[in-house]
Amino acid sequence: MRIDIISVVPDLMQSFFAHSICKRAAQAGLVEVHLHDLHDYSTKKHKQIDDYPFGGGAGMVISVEPLSVCLDSLLEQRTYDEIIFFSPDGIVFKQGLANQLSLCENMIFICGHYKGIDERIREKYVTKEISIGDYVLSGGELAAAVCADAIIRLIPGAIGDEMSALTDSFQDGLLAPPVYTRPAKWNGMEVPEILRSGNDKKIEAWRHEQAVYRTQTRRPDLLESNE
Ligand code: ADE
Repeated sequence: MRIDIISVVPDLMQSFFAHSICKRAAQAGLVEVHLHDLHDYSTKKHKQIDDYPFGGGAGMVISVEPLSVCLDSLLEQRTYDEIIFFSPDGIVFKQGLANQLSLCENMIFICGHYKGIDERIREKYVTKEISIGDYVLSGGELAAAVCADAIIRLIPGAIGDEMSALTDSFQDGLLAPPVYTRPAKWNGMEVPEILRSGNDKKIEAWRHEQAVYRTQTRRPDLLESNE
């Protein structure tokens, strides 16, 4: 998988991709993340990338030109399965979409800033608009990092135990059950006996029961819409 991320502040994401699961996946040759600084595609003096909005109003808008130059140069080099723009007006990112995007070979992520990007870029190039929640961030970079992390960890081999991505919360529409490690007794609190019983069938049944209970008590909405 290859992800090209276009941003006005790529440094913000540099350290994120140089650590964590993303770094391991990159080292294993499973993913390539390329950060592009939009300023490098500006043809204006002082590498300006934004301008005042037509019709007036507060804030600046990222101009068509640096974005279209950057996108055209990427599109000339390879085909992309998705060109994603991060925005609060997008569809809300959920596990189902992460699963779907983990099957893509090449994707472009566009991070907005200021008041947004010129609408014509969204019309001409963007194939999906994604929001990570009903709140406004200062830019799309954190949203892009969140989505990249959720997607990359699903690539087979990206995390040590492949099973563990499949047993994540949400993969079966349920939150994950509680987990414990040694010591079995701590501060008067004991790990449930069943987890130490060695009876795999009973353990699986207990985990499922706990997952259902957790979901019912914390996120009953998940039981209604299994997206
Ligand atoms: N850019 C600004 N706010 C955002 C959000 N909630 N999700 C995705 N991108 C954003």
